[in-house]
Amino acid sequence: MRVFRLALIGFGNVGQGFAQILHEQGPELARQFGVEFKIVAISDNIKGSIYNPDGFAPADLLETVKAPRSLETLPAMNCGWDAEQTILNCNADAMIQLTYTDLKTGEPAVSHIRLALQRGMHAITTNKGPIALYYADLSELAKQNGVQIGMEGTVMSGTPTLRLATELLGAAGISKVQGILNGTTNLILSRMSSGISYDDALAEAKKEGFAEADPSGDVDGHDAAGKTVILANVLMNSPIRMDDVDRQGIRHITMEDIDNARTQGKRWKLIATVEKTDNGVKASVRPTPLSVDHPLASVNGATNAITFSTKLLGEVTMIGPGAGKMQTGYAILGDLLAIIRDECNENSF
Ligand code: HSE
Repeated sequence: MRVFRLALIGFGNVGQGFAQILHEQGPELARQFGVEFKIVAISDNIKGSIYNPDGFAPADLLETVKAPRSLETLPAMNCGWDAEQTILNCNADAMIQLTYTDLKTGEPAVSHIRLALQRGMHAITTNKGPIALYYADLSELAKQNGVQIGMEGTVMSGTPTLRLATELLGAAGISKVQGILNGTTNLILSRMSSGISYDDALAEAKKEGFAEADPSGDVDGHDAAGKTVILANVLMNSPIRMDDVDRQGIRHITMEDIDNARTQGKRWKLIATVEKTDNGVKASVRPTPLSVDHPLASVNGATNAITFSTKLLGEVTMIGPGAGKMQTGYAILGDLLAIIRDECNENSF
């Protein structure tokens, strides 16, 4: 049985969702994939920092934070290491970076990822900041150090998007990607079309935990723009940056706009587009009235969706959750299994 050791930097909702998956699915994952995942370290500014080279039981971690008690009350070899000390001194095979998103600097996540990669540790993140801002640098650093960087959870959480596109649609010739990539704004626009006000719908998105800590990141389109930049970089090898996205949010959409669209057989959606053109890759995030028979028009609530326009298959659409504790935790698992599969393939040559 392959033992794969993990260090989690940040133990908020997503980290706990991932621990819950390991708690519930650990034996099944071991049976199905021949791998045992062990969380050997957690470093969290609020919940505490612990390290035990033999790992912690996910159930103990979850019970402790639920109590709530500091993680440092658990028996551990070391307590109190900060993120850098944890990355430099622990015995993990992979570092999972789960701190808050900062789309302006990517910090502190980007520094943690660099440190892990330089140490020859795989890095996985669900944080859009470092990938939207530094995808090319981080991919190169990973390559130089013979490790991988996993980022599936940065776009549409656990709904397969990046790997689906790179691995299964890679040869189909993707020329354009269009998606509903932000759950908060889709929830707001859907609720407004049922007569609920913008403010009440935003309050619902906050209550359900979809909205960013500062919801202007959602309603002004920054979150969707970050995901759009990631799609352009990862799928089209185009080094566009946040400022290259022609971005418009949904604040100005009124009930009257929604009603007018309805009378024309249309629905407003915040649509992210990345397209190959004769003048390079163009990216935008824009509220768009879609005809009701468009594949993305019937995607309602906080659900996300993406349509890949391909040369060989025509349009391929994927619909699924774009946020959530377990859903984003699942993306981490997907990245880990891909890393392990690639390691096995390399070793068989
Ligand atoms: N605030 C984001 C959304 C969360 O509403 O989709 C997932 O990135």
